[in-house]
Order: sequence, then C-alpha cells, then structure tokens
Amino acid sequence: MLLGLYSDQRPAPSHSPDEHLRVYPDGARILYNHAAGALSVSGIQTATVQAAVLVTVSCPETVITGNVTILGRLTVLGDVIARAKATVSGLFSYLAGMAGSGGAGGASTTISGNINHSGGALSSNGVTLHSHTHPDPHGGNTEPPR
Ligand SMILES: [Fe+2]
Repeated sequence: MLLGLYSDQRPAPSHSPDEHLRVYPDGARILYNHAAGALSVSGIQTATVQAAVLVTVSCPETVITGNVTILGRLTVLGDVIARAKATVSGLFSYLAGMAGSGGAGGASTTISGNINHSGGALSSNGVTLHSHTHPDPHGGNTEPPR
C-alpha cells in the first residue's frame, strides 16, 4: 500500500493542469493558478506575518474589506480621502492651512470651548474682528475694539 497517492477513493483536490492546490482537513486551501498568476489562501482562521525588519506590499491597488488597527505611527505620503466621518481623539494639528465647506443637509461648523487666535486677522463676512469700527452717533466712526 502506498500512502499519499491520489485514487478514486482519495481524488486529487484539483484536476486542472494550471493549478497547484493543497487542501487541509479543516477546509483551508492554498491554491496557485500559474496560468492566471493567482495565489489564493482561503478557509483559514488567522494569518501572521512576522518580520524583524520590513514587510512590503508592492502593487498599484490594495483593498482591505474589514477594519484596520495600526498600533504604531501612520505616515501617509499621498493625499488622504475619507468618504465617511473622521474622528480624531488626540490633538488635531495642521501645518499648511485648512479649508472646508458645509456638507449635505446644511451641515456647518460647530466648535465648543475656547478659541485662542493670534498672529493674524480674524474676519467674518469682510469684517475684521480687531480693527473694525462702527459709526459713532457723535460723528465719524468709533475706535477699533481694544
Ligand atoms: Fe463690532
């Protein structure tokens, strides 16, 4: 008796000449189709990649269908496009200005807490807070606020 040979009772998991397939007792499958250049690992519960120096995923597009947790610092060299809400729990800092607009449904900007501003002009609808004047009922204009 020869063990490990495929037979009618224990058929090969794939009959395609283009596929190299390994099937495990729990249903896990490692499939490589060399005609399509497609590697597929499925039916597993977890996967771990452990490297002492670097892991590189090099391809034009990467899709992750579930949540992602990053325990270290995230550095992004390209633009960030968030198509859903973004919540920042730590200090939110910016270094190259900020621009925005209201969203659908009349969303606007609301800030609660103190706002400290220095080193520039704060204006609303063309009126600058620290330098604007009002008509003085005694003639002319008032002094700017002090
Ligand atoms: Fe005023």
